[in-house]
Amino acid sequence: LENGLARTPPMGWMSWGYYRCGVKCEEGEHKCLNEQLILSVADSFYNEGYQEAGFEYIIIDDCWSEKKRDRNGRLVANKKRFPHGMKYLADYIHARGLKFGMYTNVANTTCMRYPGSLSHMELDAKTFAEWGVDYLKVDGCYVSEEILNTAYIQLGRYLNKTGRPMVYSCSWPYYIQYIHQQMPDYEEVARYCNMWRNYHDVQTSWDSIADIVRHYRGEYALLAPYHGPGHWNDPDMLIFGTGVLTHSQSRIQLTVFVMMSAPLLLSCDMKKITPYEKSLLQNLDLMAIAQDPLGIMAEPYGVTGCTLWIKPHLPRKGDQFPSYSLAIMNLDADSSDVSFRLSTYNLNATDGYTILDVFSGEFIRNVTYNDKIEVTVPGLAMTVEKCEPLRIVDHINTYGKCLVDK
Ligand code: DGJ
Repeated sequence: LENGLARTPPMGWMSWGYYRCGVKCEEGEHKCLNEQLILSVADSFYNEGYQEAGFEYIIIDDCWSEKKRDRNGRLVANKKRFPHGMKYLADYIHARGLKFGMYTNVANTTCMRYPGSLSHMELDAKTFAEWGVDYLKVDGCYVSEEILNTAYIQLGRYLNKTGRPMVYSCSWPYYIQYIHQQMPDYEEVARYCNMWRNYHDVQTSWDSIADIVRHYRGEYALLAPYHGPGHWNDPDMLIFGTGVLTHSQSRIQLTVFVMMSAPLLLSCDMKKITPYEKSLLQNLDLMAIAQDPLGIMAEPYGVTGCTLWIKPHLPRKGDQFPSYSLAIMNLDADSSDVSFRLSTYNLNATDGYTILDVFSGEFIRNVTYNDKIEVTVPGLAMTVEKCEPLRIVDHINTYGKCLVDK
């Protein structure tokens, strides 16, 4: 959607992945989607370095409202869990230079049976705008294919009509493909939405992450043409901070999402993000790859049982050749010896390349486009040092410096 927003993939936090409906506050913080939680995420973004790394949107998913609209038909924030209402949260978030996101559905209820927007599109768009919403996630439960194909477009028009810029996140293609068993019209989706869910909900397990990673690797050719500034495929949330990922698994999820230029949305108690996870999320070289202005989805190539993901970057001013990020991923249990030449993938800079390790920030070596690069990539159960993206930049190598300047 060309509305000037989401020129790079949105980064932030969203409640659903970890908190789900979050209505059982009496059972503890981990089951409670309330004002306190949202304020604490804003504080954590603001005070703990996440904002500087690019994390910006704080998004409340399903189950935030009262079960009924008010007598004027307006949506009302749940009075117990959000006693000061949504505008209060938006103001708090905006005061810290962050952005506020909310959720609705294109049916008359949400997936969890709270009021949805189908018969109230114009009013709801206005309400969200008045509350100061900067991002709207719109789900697609319980409606026909016909309604999906019209309601997303219509709601988008009402959002636009409010005059308030709101990132428009749609679940449209997911429901078309997996509920109605049809092929989504991605051209249409990309015209009307800033981002969209393609595939099943992420679960807090490694199996779910491996499945998502395999899915996007397999669907590269279908999805990549529609992916770029203003319009992004969305593989759903990161599950950092939920305690289920090993170091190597967390690296794999984040690296694949970064290489894809996918939106990066956390979903967890921010206090539970481990120091290791935090170091990945706040690795500015890694985040710069994720936020590269070209927003090109890395292409996956099979190389000796591994996947080599290659992502071109916007060349810096004066540079003749683009720089690239390369990531080698091994999802099998056995380690694999990978060898390849850059020229095979059309990396042909005449002076060769400097290879840097994004995770350590260290220089690895210089290569020509014709040198053999040999890497042993351990199996899944493994140490992961070699399974990392190698930042390959041309010999001028000013990309990293640019980050520091920022
Ligand atoms: C289905 C979506 O895919 C999830 O991300 C979440 O928004 C739930 N619905 C909420 O009910």
